[in-house]
Amino acid sequence: MSVRIVVSGATGWVGKALVVAIAQAPDLVLAGAVSRSAAGRDAGEAAGIGAIGVPVSASLEEALAAPSDVVIDYTRPDIVKANTLAALAAGRHVVVGTSGLGAADYEEIDAAARAASLGVLAAGNFSITATLMIKFALMAAPYVADVEIIDYAKGAKPDTPSGTARELAERLAEIRRPSTAMPVSDLGGVRETRGGTIGAPNPVQVHSVRMPSFVLSCEALFGADNERLLIRHDSGPSAGPYVAGTLLAARKVSGFVGLRRGLDTVMEGLS
Ligand SMILES: NC(=O)c1ccc[n+]([C@@H]2O[C@H](COP(=O)([O-])OP(=O)(O)OC[C@H]3O[C@@H](n4cnc5c(N)ncnc54)[C@H](OP(=O)(O)O)[C@@H]3O)[C@@H](O)[C@H]2O)c1
Repeated sequence: MSVRIVVSGATGWVGKALVVAIAQAPDLVLAGAVSRSAAGRDAGEAAGIGAIGVPVSASLEEALAAPSDVVIDYTRPDIVKANTLAALAAGRHVVVGTSGLGAADYEEIDAAARAASLGVLAAGNFSITATLMIKFALMAAPYVADVEIIDYAKGAKPDTPSGTARELAERLAEIRRPSTAMPVSDLGGVRETRGGTIGAPNPVQVHSVRMPSFVLSCEALFGADNERLLIRHDSGPSAGPYVAGTLLAARKVSGFVGLRRGLDTVMEGLS
């Protein structure tokens, strides 16, 4: 049976590429599209592929008036939580691509999804190779106590750290051993230079670099006595890698209840 999908953020960098891919996929149906700037236009025309008979809605609420199974959100950090809760309240599974949510937001989303017996799959990075980077770092963490994360992006990126770095830090913090470095609170000098402290129970220091020439890169840097291990992912300029992983998530999200974080949780052999 086809999966009927609403794309929220349908005119964005990722959203447009999703509209094109869904229109071309035999097992997926574009059931709705949301963007304020393209409201009233045909979603295919707005994505540059010609009319496909799906009008763009001005709000998610309007798009949810038509039947659908899954909402995919690629909008902005300040509206993704409200969108996710609204989609769950309307009985839709949700794939969250938008970055910027924290652990407390995810707890609330998990509770709402469980109460509604629906699935939510959120990933800081839906690229399959970035997912492998996260997975390999999680595999290394039990063996090497010291790990810090460095994330690189263009200067205009509106949130920090990147969704990839944040998710990696939160997931590492759950399984890593305590750092052997001096606690940040005990340091003299400019403590901010040690980066942001993310996750529990054993948080991870995250350092964000913002400057021209980067698209999005993320490093997990492990250090042990007399040796280091660097696990790094670099994104190219196309949204293609995110589309493939996001549509895999859309096909799988109705198969479980509650929130899952990370594409690896639905990838065979990795979950
Ligand atoms: N998880 C991943 O793998 C991954 C990959 C890439 C990006 N991201 C994240 O995904 C998000 C979107 O990225 P992008 O580069 O595609 O962004 P973008 O190009 O800026 O697109 C944002 C989209 O959201 C819509 N939007 C913005 N504000 C809205 C509002 N208040 N109500 C309704 N729609 C709104 C915009 O349309 P209108 O302005 O016309 O409404 C546009 O269609 C970011 O948080 C980014 O960090 C995640």
